[in-house]
Order: sequence, then structure tokens, then C-alpha cells
Amino acid sequence: MDFNLIKLIHVIVVILFLLIYLIKTILLLANNNDGLAKFTKIVKVPEMIISLLFLVTGIYMLTQIGANKLLIIKIIIVLLSIPIAIVGFKKKNKILAVLSLLMIIAAYGLAEMNKKNVEKQTVDPTVGNPNDPNYDIKKHGELVYTAYCQSCHGTEGTNGAGGADLTLSKMNMKAMMEQVKNGSNTMAGFKDVLNEQEITAVVAYVETLKK
Ligand code: HEC
Repeated sequence: MDFNLIKLIHVIVVILFLLIYLIKTILLLANNNDGLAKFTKIVKVPEMIISLLFLVTGIYMLTQIGANKLLIIKIIIVLLSIPIAIVGFKKKNKILAVLSLLMIIAAYGLAEMNKKNVEKQTVDPTVGNPNDPNYDIKKHGELVYTAYCQSCHGTEGTNGAGGADLTLSKMNMKAMMEQVKNGSNTMAGFKDVLNEQEITAVVAYVETLKK
């Protein structure tokens, strides 16, 4: 299955999930108990489908990415927020309802905030010229990798400081291009830093690291 499609579904589902929660919380805060009861009834089935999709896509992505510390914290916060929300709405406790909403938002915000900004590094221009008859895409990719990726993914792609183990990656080249362009969790996207050729080269190099 296409990783990016699953990820897109996950993001859409999270947004819908948050919207439903937000509306419920607003109704609760406004003391609109009738409205809350009505809304809860209307969204009951959609909410079940959304929750299921949220879990399934989340678990699928976890099996593809592998857990890192930040992801685990994010999952724990989300999982903790669910019982708090259930109790909050059942007991019409405004503080608990708002708390659970904030926890879910925080969990997703956390990942975004943690993305480190990347700066342009100089990669030997003679190695990076695809029009050169001696151009070697893997060599070019290795240089880009050493400059931009090694700090997190390690010399052989097997780890380093917090990056996923690239030797075990099940991503295809297309998904990897997207990952490098847009990033995810603590990995920042490189689309503003690396050009298409550099990204293609580094992905070609990462392919050679796979076991
Ligand atoms: C700041 C640390 C960091 C840097 C720098 C970094 N990555 Fe990552 N990378 C990560 C983390 C963390 C993940 C796991 C992402 C997640 O959990 O969503 C990851 C995931 C990946 C994946 C997906 C692996 C999989 O199968 O799930 C690929 C491919 C990847 N990185 C390639 C690169 C390349 C190529 C570069 C250099 C251009 C790079 N990364 C730079 C931290 C980093």
C-alpha cells in the first residue's frame, strides 16, 4: 500500500477527529447540553469510523516508520487523552474535556515544533554535476547523505541520533523522495534546501544501504 496515501488519510482523519472534539467541547463549555446530546448522536457512527481509521492508519504507519522516542511520547499522550475525554464528556466536566482536547493538539504540535531547521551545506560541486560524463549518482548521494542525513541516521544508515534505521526501510524510492522533501516527526523536510537532483541522488544512495 502507498505510504503517502495512508499518511494523507491519517492526517484527514485526525483533522475530522479534532473538529468533532472541538465542536463537542464548545457545546459543553456553552452549557448547551441539548445541542451536545444531539451532536453526539449525529456523529456517533462517523466518529466510530473515524476512530477506527485513525487507529488503523496510525498503527500501519508505526510499523513502517518504527518507533522513536518522540513518536512514543505522542502516542502515549493521545492514548491518555481518550479516557480523559470519555470521562470528561460523560460527567460534563469542562476541565477534563478541554484538557483532553489540548493533549491531542499538543501531541501533534509537538512533532511539528521539534522539527529542526536545516541549513544549506556546501557539497563538492564537481561531484554534484549530472551533466559531467563521470557523474556518479551514488557518490553524489553519499556526499549529500554525509552532509545532511548522517547526524541522525548514522554512517551506515543504521541509526545515529534518533533517525529511523534506513537499512530496514520498506519505503520505495517514490515514498522516500516524499519523505526527504517533506519530512515527518522530528525529521525536517529538505525541499527548500536540496534540489531535485540532490534528493534523487541521496535516495539512490539510501537504496544501497538497504539490507
Ligand atoms: C534531525 C534528524 C534527521 C535528519 C537530519 C534526517 N532524518 Fe530521516 N528521519 C529522521 C526520523 C526521526 C525519522 C522517522 C520519522 C518518523 O518517525 O516519522 C526519519 C525517517 C526517514 C526515512 C523514512 C524511513 C522509513 O522507512 O520510515 C527516510 C527515507 C529518511 N529519514 C531519509 C533521510 C535522508 C535521506 C536524510 C538527509 C537528506 C534524512 N533522513 C535526514 C530523522 C532525521
